[in-house]
Amino acid sequence: MKILGIETSCDETAAAVIENGNTILSNIVASSIDIHIKTGGIVPENAARQQIKSIIPVITGSLTTAKCNIEEIDAIAVTIGPGLIGSLLVGVEAAKTLSFFWDKPIIPVNHLTAHIYANFIRNVPNSDYHKSFSSPLFPLLALVVSGGHTDLVFMKRHGKLKWIGGTRDDAAGEAFDKTARLLGLPYPGGPSISKAAEKYLRSQLNKKQSLRLFPRPIINENNYDWSFSGLKTSALRKVTEIKNNKGISKKEIAKLSAEVQEAIVDVLVVKTLKAVDEYNPKSFLLAGGVAANLRLREKFTEEITNNYKDLQFHVPQVSLCTDNAAYIASFGFFNNHPISWKKIDANPQLTIGQH
Ligand code: KG4
Ligand code: ZN
Repeated sequence: MKILGIETSCDETAAAVIENGNTILSNIVASSIDIHIKTGGIVPENAARQQIKSIIPVITGSLTTAKCNIEEIDAIAVTIGPGLIGSLLVGVEAAKTLSFFWDKPIIPVNHLTAHIYANFIRNVPNSDYHKSFSSPLFPLLALVVSGGHTDLVFMKRHGKLKWIGGTRDDAAGEAFDKTARLLGLPYPGGPSISKAAEKYLRSQLNKKQSLRLFPRPIINENNYDWSFSGLKTSALRKVTEIKNNKGISKKEIAKLSAEVQEAIVDVLVVKTLKAVDEYNPKSFLLAGGVAANLRLREKFTEEITNNYKDLQFHVPQVSLCTDNAAYIASFGFFNNHPISWKKIDANPQLTIGQH
């Protein structure tokens, strides 16, 4: 079964053709990031304008790359939320139009739940990823860490999802983005902080170090919640102190980046593993843009290898963590519940697991 996925929730315009939920035939992403770098963040109207420009070339590109004609597409899966309304509407209306003209079923997709399905994709073109791939087993626990959301969910099977915790304020990706801005690092902050931190950590390879400068809020509370808004206040205080003292060097920025990253990674890992202790899942899945973070991947790998020998750990290929339409189509395959195009509407406020 071939599904055309369409994703336009924020600043990426993406379309992909996926076979049987796990094989990428094409995966095209047009990002308007260059425009947002200039404004230091996303201006929703600019993002929507770019979506309109890119949507047709991206959809036709995904079909051409997949060497697929319209007759071969079995269904269209489209992100209906959450996201920016102007951006969402572009993908939703395009998908509805195609569904009507091509007479194809249309599957509405929750972008947050769909992030998890990047872990179900085994065949990635020009990659031997499939060699190390194994299918996630249920029941599973999934942590979705993205730019706007941080959610921990327990899934007994496809479509049966229980939310067990999340952020009380900023999302993990937002914490990266906001502290990067304070440190004068370019948007998007996650990759910038990660790059600066890697450089610092490499320079410290043989030195014993502990990165404990910033607090780990509510790490010992008996719940699966996070709070990241205090981190930017702590970082601001530290940066101001250093600047007032003698000015801030590149090396200090790199060290602070490593400190910020470690604080975020630490609380994410500790709280998630507490949930593993309680829910005893067969597999744990990491997903969302922040799952591209190497330190987060490494720390989960270390902890699970050393202390949770029976737990399968899954994390998508780095290129599938940030927004794309491959996991939108994969979600559509495993949650194949089409509805009439007339009933499909964008919903910017959707929460994880909601339809
Ligand atoms: O899932 P995503 O692509 O978009 C949303 O649905 O929000 O996530 C984007 C977020 C941004 O906050 C970005 O800074 C963060 O993911 N991110 C990273 C890395 N790559 C992207 N954060 C930390 N380390 C990275 N390598
Ligand atoms: Zn996303």
